[in-house]
Amino acid sequence: EKDGYPSFMEKEIHEQPRAVSETLLGRTDAAGKLILDELRIDPEQLKQVNKIIVLACGTSAYAGQVAKYAIEHWCRIPTEVELSHEFRYRDPIVDGNTLIISISQSGETMDTLMAVRYAREQGAKTLAICNTNGSTIPRESDAVLYTHAGPEIAVASTKAFLAQITAAYLLGLYLAQLRGNKFQGEIKDLLADLHKTPEKIQTVLDNEAQIRDLAVAMKDAKSVLFLGRHVGFPVAMEGALKLKELAYIHAEGFAAGELKHGPIALIEDGQPVFVVVPSPNGRDSLHAKVVSNIQEIRARGAKTIVIAEEGDEAVREFAEHVFYIPATPTLLAPLLTTVPLQIFACALASAKGYDVDQPRNLAKSVTVE
Ligand code: M6R
Repeated sequence: EKDGYPSFMEKEIHEQPRAVSETLLGRTDAAGKLILDELRIDPEQLKQVNKIIVLACGTSAYAGQVAKYAIEHWCRIPTEVELSHEFRYRDPIVDGNTLIISISQSGETMDTLMAVRYAREQGAKTLAICNTNGSTIPRESDAVLYTHAGPEIAVASTKAFLAQITAAYLLGLYLAQLRGNKFQGEIKDLLADLHKTPEKIQTVLDNEAQIRDLAVAMKDAKSVLFLGRHVGFPVAMEGALKLKELAYIHAEGFAAGELKHGPIALIEDGQPVFVVVPSPNGRDSLHAKVVSNIQEIRARGAKTIVIAEEGDEAVREFAEHVFYIPATPTLLAPLLTTVPLQIFACALASAKGYDVDQPRNLAKSVTVE
């Protein structure tokens, strides 16, 4: 069943090009227009939405954070992301024009289910992004957009995460299409770019040896930090979560801009730090800012491991290791930048002799609150 891979996790990491392409499949018409009739929610109601709250836990919540950047940019609808278990205990403000997007691989996470139920009671519309057909959360929601990653067996989520992000992009672009806003022109191009990502993920996988070797060499690390900015920030947190879950190493993800507000004090000689660098062709001065963050930590002794876009030579002189990913629009980059971090955590944990499919103390679906 593992198709020759030593673990389900490795198999699932390698299934990611397919998880993304299957999630995209059949959701656009010949003219390149998004068709999401399957949502079974009145498009008129979706047009009225004036606030979105994404509810999820763990890795799915990081997919939600990526979704927030994309949805706000494309749809101009204020979007919050909240951990499901925090949401209903704080008297949140929701009404009939609030769209709740829950994200859950299993569709059975009790914290998320309870949050969705609560939001529904308050009159919100609920839409589930889910990988498991007929599971409880989609059944109890007004609408569902399934991810087609296929069953995910390993406790650590990998292919479901990429599929969740893909579904969230589709939803964001669909809402933008419905609302007829100024991003109409971009939608077609972005969909074309999205359809190119499975092949690019494959390119990242084809180059995995470099990151695996690094993981083996770093197997005795005591702490690893991850920095990112914009959509690279949730990717950094996901990289840290994977390492905690699988290798039981202290790991933390930070927004690169937050460094000087405290975390830079952690940097000492030899501290490994992964940095997810935005495309040099992306917006504003983000790239330059992250490069200067790399310089700052390097000057304090950090061992910098950089994930950057191919052709980005500016990062080379400040990096111990550079792992290049194919060029892609900034908002879509998490589909690529996450992959080396998954491979790193999986290879490092395997090098330590740990069971990557069944990490200690964890269950695949958390069905208690
Ligand atoms: O099934 P769900 O997506 O609702 O699960 C949410 C989290 O429990 C899950 O993502 C968890 O964080 C994974 N172990 C991450 O690898």
